[in-house]
Amino acid sequence: MTELIEKKKRRGSLSAEELRFIVTGSLKGEIPDYQLAALFMAIKFQGMDQRETTDLTREMLNSGKVLELESIPGKKIDKHSTGGVGDKVSLILAPLVASAGVVVPMLSGRGLGHTGGTLDKLESIPGFQTTLPIPHFLKQLSHIGVGIIGQSGEIAPADRLFYALRDVTGTVDSIPLITASILSKKLAEGAEGYVFDVKVGQGAFMKTVEEARALSFSLISASSEIGKKASALITSMEQPLGEMVGNTLEVKEAIDTLKGGGPTDLIELTLQLGAEMLLLAGTVRNIEDGLKILQAKLQRGEALDRFREMVRWQGADPRVVDDYRQLPQAKERWEMRSPSDGYISKLDAYEVGLAVKRLGGGRESLQQKIDPTVGIMCVKRMGEWIRKGEILMEIYYNNSQQLSKVIDGLSSAVELSKEREALPSLIKEKISL
Ligand code: URA
Repeated sequence: MTELIEKKKRRGSLSAEELRFIVTGSLKGEIPDYQLAALFMAIKFQGMDQRETTDLTREMLNSGKVLELESIPGKKIDKHSTGGVGDKVSLILAPLVASAGVVVPMLSGRGLGHTGGTLDKLESIPGFQTTLPIPHFLKQLSHIGVGIIGQSGEIAPADRLFYALRDVTGTVDSIPLITASILSKKLAEGAEGYVFDVKVGQGAFMKTVEEARALSFSLISASSEIGKKASALITSMEQPLGEMVGNTLEVKEAIDTLKGGGPTDLIELTLQLGAEMLLLAGTVRNIEDGLKILQAKLQRGEALDRFREMVRWQGADPRVVDDYRQLPQAKERWEMRSPSDGYISKLDAYEVGLAVKRLGGGRESLQQKIDPTVGIMCVKRMGEWIRKGEILMEIYYNNSQQLSKVIDGLSSAVELSKEREALPSLIKEKISL
């Protein structure tokens, strides 16, 4: 291991055998954390070439179980987002794409830091199970074509070990390590193709389009070398996606969208990602055809029906769709009002995400419990005009201590200007090989 650390420190390229030694040795407890941490720091600064990244991904993927979906008829395609604020796309997209005949076997994660997680959102529906026995999950996929569950302990155990170390040694922000981490968990679900939603901006891990482009290429190159079809969209995370941020609030907004309502940015991104998935599945010849099919499914309520079925298969009462009173609610609501007139030129997704975390809606470590009821409704969005005294945001909370922790941060999240500035484009680039 000392030799391998030296090699990477001098920008050497680690072979597949060397990477296997590192992954298997760490899992057996034969490589101490301090040596792994030193290696990660060397990788953070010296990088990895594409071959190394793919080999590391493969070794980490093979450190655990990989689902076998061959018995399930139909193409299996999934989406992965690199993490954002207000990103409830999966809740709408998975049943929508399934209603168009493509199986979506989604293994999802929890929120960390200022970002939300699909499992936390779904678990705010009373009774919703995100841990299912694999045979039940496979049966569900055969019957309704969609399911969203968590990555069990048997999937990519190397990533759990590595991520915990990276998190406390300043080595999360390395593109090869992020690539291997994301893919080792995601490819374990055994789908044939993946669309990556690579977020960029204030509220994202990637702050510049150049970084997002590098991560996109890394993700789709490693996926394709492992035999998966893949493409990526680079999408804006300057302001939260949609109006709602916070677990229960986001479930309501997702259901509203499945019913034909919902904010335009959320609808647009969901449809574009869905059309990319249909294209990868080979069920449409171009994005325009995919968009048309998905729009029709959404309008006819077919995606909503599929969502109801998913809720039932995963142990909860599907009537929640028609009666939001079944969802837990925050006790209090506070209206943050605009201090002056102006166009909203900034609505910082990072600050809004951080505020929801501080309210109790997010977590610092994976063991922490969250409060699903708290959150923020962004009543006004970037580019909109607001008058002095009008409501800017509504904050949902349960005690005044929570509220006092977030007011300053939220005030600094918003900037107003007299001139209307151009909005950042939602979908910046498509990356494919
Ligand atoms: N998400 C992951 O799953 N892994 C990383 O390393 C970063 C984000």
